[in-house]
Amino acid sequence: MVTITVIGTGYVGLVSGACLADFGNSVTCVDINIKKIEDLQKGIIPIYEPGLESVVARNSVAGRLFFSTDIPGALKKNTVVFIAVGTPPMEDGSADLGHVEAAARDIGRYMSAYTVVVDKSTVPIGTGRKVAQWIGEELDKRGVQVPFDVVSNPEFLREGSAVQDFTHPDRVVIGSESGEARKIMKEVYRSLYLNETPYIETNLESAEMIKYAANAFLAVKITFINEIANLCEKVGADVRDVAKAVGRDGRIGAKFLHPGPGYGGSCFPKDTRALAHIGRDSGEPVSIVEAAISANDRQKSRMINKIEEALGGAGSLKGKTIAVLGLAFKPNTDDMRESPALTICEGLANRGAKLRVWDPAAMKEAAWRLASIQDKLFFAADEYDAAAGSAALVLLTEWNQFRNLDLSRVKNLLTLPYFFDLRNVYKQEEAENAGLKYIGIGK
Ligand code: UDX
Repeated sequence: MVTITVIGTGYVGLVSGACLADFGNSVTCVDINIKKIEDLQKGIIPIYEPGLESVVARNSVAGRLFFSTDIPGALKKNTVVFIAVGTPPMEDGSADLGHVEAAARDIGRYMSAYTVVVDKSTVPIGTGRKVAQWIGEELDKRGVQVPFDVVSNPEFLREGSAVQDFTHPDRVVIGSESGEARKIMKEVYRSLYLNETPYIETNLESAEMIKYAANAFLAVKITFINEIANLCEKVGADVRDVAKAVGRDGRIGAKFLHPGPGYGGSCFPKDTRALAHIGRDSGEPVSIVEAAISANDRQKSRMINKIEEALGGAGSLKGKTIAVLGLAFKPNTDDMRESPALTICEGLANRGAKLRVWDPAAMKEAAWRLASIQDKLFFAADEYDAAAGSAALVLLTEWNQFRNLDLSRVKNLLTLPYFFDLRNVYKQEEAENAGLKYIGIGK
């Protein structure tokens, strides 16, 4: 059992804190946001994440998980401190390290005994060394010498399955050159270590690079199949067959070969831009990642053109109502950060369409994120209410409940029979049997 403080109760911090407590550690999650901490103390979870509420409840009751705004108090008594604050992108794509620096300086200000400082946030390569420097500066100001080590321990959580990903990871990456810190981290992840989860020890920089390389590779993989899908449409191939056969090659793998309206979310767009920025800064441009970033932007716009073209070309969206199913960047989350739905809804509205939108979780998010087109938006009550009186149905996010639509009912509710299945959920034949004009991706 290790005593842990987690600084930052955002997505990563909260999931990590709760799951680390579930591994048997004693964890205090701290944040400067008083309201958020008060809510968490009452068991109110600020994000939508399946399973998280019960992990928080279980460990709070067991006396292993605490929430506090007393950062100095928490830092004084802990041997392991996780930094899990946000690193939002700046204008040029680089990561803003302001919160990381503030957390590091707090650690230097208050720690009183040997501390392992763990970077959980996704940070540019070299940040671990900076964290050590910031802590050292604060210790110098105090005129004291307290030993500490910095570890990079990137997270690979997917939203919607974050608890499962944290408790059943493909690997745990520990970047540190200190034997003592490595030993303590093994204790922190003891239950995974005993389960023989691959446990990869590297230096700080490699661990920081692993996170960017993994996310950039996945973003490139999605972008690759999206471009192949676009080409399939031109040459008469069907991307579903292509992806199925290509993915059978063990060296390629079947996952992340689903074409769609472009990747979104809080990680891929931000991390690809940050890696591209690091590459340019280092004089070693990562050109394949640069290409994926622009191709992903084009993919989102391409969806708008695809809908407009099918409905009759330039000007055809004017005065038409379009039903949009799914606004979150993927299913099982209310997160709309960089969701393709933002670009696509705005694009359709700017070309004159009115929208009837519906998402099982993201309606509240959508109300402010789509505020710029609010006079063109109607928030529907469900998928059929969205379809009612619309000229086309656009499926943007593959929520489970959209996988089994009553297509005949949809057809009867639409004024024109267009069904844009931008996640290739349905078979062309079944949509056509229901009388719909089916337009998927990549065929
Ligand atoms: C991702 C990484 O998977 C995770 O390891 C990392 O820690 C954070 O970033 P997340 O952003 O939660 O996780 O979502 P993910 O499930 O990976 O999907 C990202 C985007 O790619 C979504 O917009 C999704 O719709 C899209 N996607 C994914 C595709 O378009 N096609 C695919 O085949 C897979």
